[in-house]
Amino acid sequence: MNIVSKIFKNKKTLPLNIFLEKILYNKKYGYYSKKNPFGIKGDFITSPMVSKLFGEIIGIWCVAFWEKLGFPKKIKIVEMGPGNGKLSLSLINVFSNFKEFNESFELILLEKSKKLKKEQKQKLKSKKVKWIKSLEEIKSGPIIFLSNEFFDALPIKQFIKKNNLLYERYVENIDNKKIIFSDKRNKSKILNKKIYKNFFKNKNFIEFPIDAIKLLEIISKKIKKFNGGIIFFDYGYCKNNATDTLQSVKKHKYSNVLKDLGNSDITHLIDFDFFSFFLKQNGLQLEGVVKQGTFLKKMGIVERANIISKNMTFKEKADLFYRLKRLIDEKEMGDLFKVLFFKKKGLNFSLGFK
Ligand SMILES: C[S@@+](CC[C@H](N)C(=O)[O-])C[C@H]1O[C@@H](n2cnc3c(N)ncnc32)[C@H](O)[C@@H]1O
Repeated sequence: MNIVSKIFKNKKTLPLNIFLEKILYNKKYGYYSKKNPFGIKGDFITSPMVSKLFGEIIGIWCVAFWEKLGFPKKIKIVEMGPGNGKLSLSLINVFSNFKEFNESFELILLEKSKKLKKEQKQKLKSKKVKWIKSLEEIKSGPIIFLSNEFFDALPIKQFIKKNNLLYERYVENIDNKKIIFSDKRNKSKILNKKIYKNFFKNKNFIEFPIDAIKLLEIISKKIKKFNGGIIFFDYGYCKNNATDTLQSVKKHKYSNVLKDLGNSDITHLIDFDFFSFFLKQNGLQLEGVVKQGTFLKKMGIVERANIISKNMTFKEKADLFYRLKRLIDEKEMGDLFKVLFFKKKGLNFSLGFK
């Protein structure tokens, strides 16, 4: 059986989000179940892999937030989609420098891929780390939810407006030989009236992060009940863009979304305006959405690099600053990547955002 027949079984078409779910996360043939996507030998590299300074800065930010929360005796740090565990590892190292925080934190990981969970368990031996299957398992707080390049990897739906009629994007199987996009008149109720009227009404192309909003609903509930916030890093845009942002990457190069299925990473750009709209609607308070470069510089990443480079050889220094540039330069990850921070209403904490 080829991969197309495995995905479609007896169906001729699948909604885009179901197709993405299968091709990325199916337990047998899904991209994240069979291959290690990260690093030079893989398909892409993320910020925690570019430099450990990235994780250090987020760790320090978490400690500062915990102080602002009044030094609670217990604090939950929840990383969603931890990949190869690099960010979590940096966080554990940073936290070990802050005695009281180190005794208070628990690191909770939400990971869907069995293969990656296994890798994380090998890397993160600390008793402070725990894995969960659903965010609903979290029953107390305060909680800091965080993620890097997580939401861009979750399946989305796409809707297209033509002559004032709404169509949903499907993927169609042509005789198990090739697949194409095809649009059908929208029947799904998922774009509920309130969201549609208040956010998408004037757009002719809609990317609807159906899986992300299910998680954001739980996250908002937990933050309102137990206190805390959510900070996440991802690539995307803030102003209305209304275009197809689905993209596929293989061996560090863009590839065709409908080709070489199961061997390429398929993601989309995050619409930070929509995420902000949705979290506000769910009763959280926006602190800000800023560029990754701005956030890291405000948090003192350049000064930190200067300090740790003092006793380095020329070669080590060159490597450190080359990596730093990748994280903060506007032509590299500094501008396209953004940081969003929402918190419980009334909390006064804006480090890195003001
Ligand atoms: C692009 S990778 C990012 C990995 C890591 N955060 C980093 O920056 O290197 C996306 C991660 O999210 C995980 N993931 C995707 N969907 C998920 C879901 N619904 N629940 C939990 N983890 C998920 C993937 O298995 C993978 O670990």
